[in-house]
Amino acid sequence: MTVRAATPDDLDAVVVLEQDALGPDAWSVGLLEEGLAGRVPTVYYLVAESDGSVVGHAVTSLAGDIAELQRIAVTPAARRTGVASALLDASVALAEGADRMLLEVRADNAGALAFYAAHGFVEVDRRQKYYKDGATAVVMRLPLGKGCGGTATS
Ligand SMILES: CC(C)(COP(=O)(O)OP(=O)(O)OC[C@H]1O[C@@H](n2cnc3c(N)ncnc32)[C@H](O)[C@@H]1OP(=O)(O)O)[C@@H](O)C(=O)NCCC(=O)NCCS
Repeated sequence: MTVRAATPDDLDAVVVLEQDALGPDAWSVGLLEEGLAGRVPTVYYLVAESDGSVVGHAVTSLAGDIAELQRIAVTPAARRTGVASALLDASVALAEGADRMLLEVRADNAGALAFYAAHGFVEVDRRQKYYKDGATAVVMRLPLGKGCGGTATS
C-alpha cells in the first residue's frame, strides 16, 4: 500500500469513498473536483492505493500554525489494516510547520473516535448541531510542536 498526492483522475474513487464512508456528510462531486484539481488553496488531498486501487483518502488544510484534518476515510474491505494510519502519518508530514492538528468528528462515530484516540488526538471541545442531521461534533487536537527534547508535547 502506498500513499500519494491525489490527482483529478482519482475523482471517481474519492466520490465513492465519500459516499460509502460519510453518507449524508459526503462532499459534493463539484467540491471534490475543485479540490482534486488543486483549485482550493491550502487544501491537500492524499490517497492510499493498494494493488492499483484507491482504498482511502485524506484531506488536510494548512493555515499558519493550524493543520486541519478535514477528511479521512477507508473503503470498508480495507479497514483495520493500517490504511488510515498511513494516511494520517502522511498528513502529519504535510503539516510540517504547524504546531497542532485539529479535526471534528461525529460524537456518534465510535470507530473514528477510537482511531483518533489511538493516534494521540484528545478532545478539546464539542460543537452542538454541527452536522446536517443535528449531530454533535467532537473537536480533537493532536500536538505537533516539538518540545526542547525534540519530541511532541501536549
Ligand atoms: C475511522 C477509519 C478512517 C479508520 O480507518 P482504518 O484504516 O480502519 O484504521 P487503521 O487500520 O489505521 O486503525 C489503526 C488503529 O485505530 C483504531 N481503530 C481504527 N478503527 C477502529 C474501530 N472501528 N474501532 C475501534 N478502534 C479502531 C485501532 O486502535 C486500530 O489499530 P488495530 O487495528 O491494530 O486495533 C475508518 O473506519 C473509516 O473510513 N470510517 C468511515 C469514515 C470515517 O468515519 N472517517 C472519520 C471521520 S471524517
